[in-house]
Amino acid sequence: MKTTYYGHSCFAVELNGKTILFDPFISGNERAKHIDIALIKPDYILITHGHADHVSDVLRIAQQSGATLVSNFEVISWFAGQGYDKGHPMNHGGRWTFDFGTVQYVNAVHSSSMPDGSYGGNPGGFIITGGEDCIYVSGDTALTMDMKIFGEMNTIDTAFLCIGDNFTMGAVEAVTAAQWLRAGKVFGLHFDTFGYIEIDHAVTQDLFAQKSIPFILPEIGGEYDL
Ligand code: NI
Ligand code: MN
Repeated sequence: MKTTYYGHSCFAVELNGKTILFDPFISGNERAKHIDIALIKPDYILITHGHADHVSDVLRIAQQSGATLVSNFEVISWFAGQGYDKGHPMNHGGRWTFDFGTVQYVNAVHSSSMPDGSYGGNPGGFIITGGEDCIYVSGDTALTMDMKIFGEMNTIDTAFLCIGDNFTMGAVEAVTAAQWLRAGKVFGLHFDTFGYIEIDHAVTQDLFAQKSIPFILPEIGGEYDL
């Protein structure tokens, strides 16, 4: 599965010939200045929750690509109010099958408000099964027992987990999350963007290595074959 990392919690995967972009926050990321946003033309944009560091480039990329937005009901309704009504609303626990695969919107332990302060519904993550791949995208979350259920009910190849601590779980909890999820490998997100979430790379790599969990700490602009 081809995967491109755009910094913070933003990345794209290719599933069944479609490009799915997650949580676009690029123009506001000082560390992602070398990314040319005009070249990003996904078929879908999946949004875990309403915080600005997950949605600030949604409208621009949606308008230049015609992408379908997928998120919770409140986030999709907010973007409709902004003039972009090509969205698919979901809520926690529900599944829908798209042309690239089946998406389930699942619980996250966090908060969710839109950039203008309006209600963003409850925050979530995604479990996506498409072709040969099953991925879990945590969104911003604490470690939560729900991850045991996700691992019992799915065979997760790659878990995209927040690891930056302070606003979300840190790497110590992410290692336990990976074990509960029974994930084949972990791709780290939500780290180093600003001071609160700067991490020690060597310490983080070592925490996963100690448990023999394959771990990718991506470079902004990097492409990975997962
Ligand atoms: Ni957040
Ligand atoms: Mn965040």
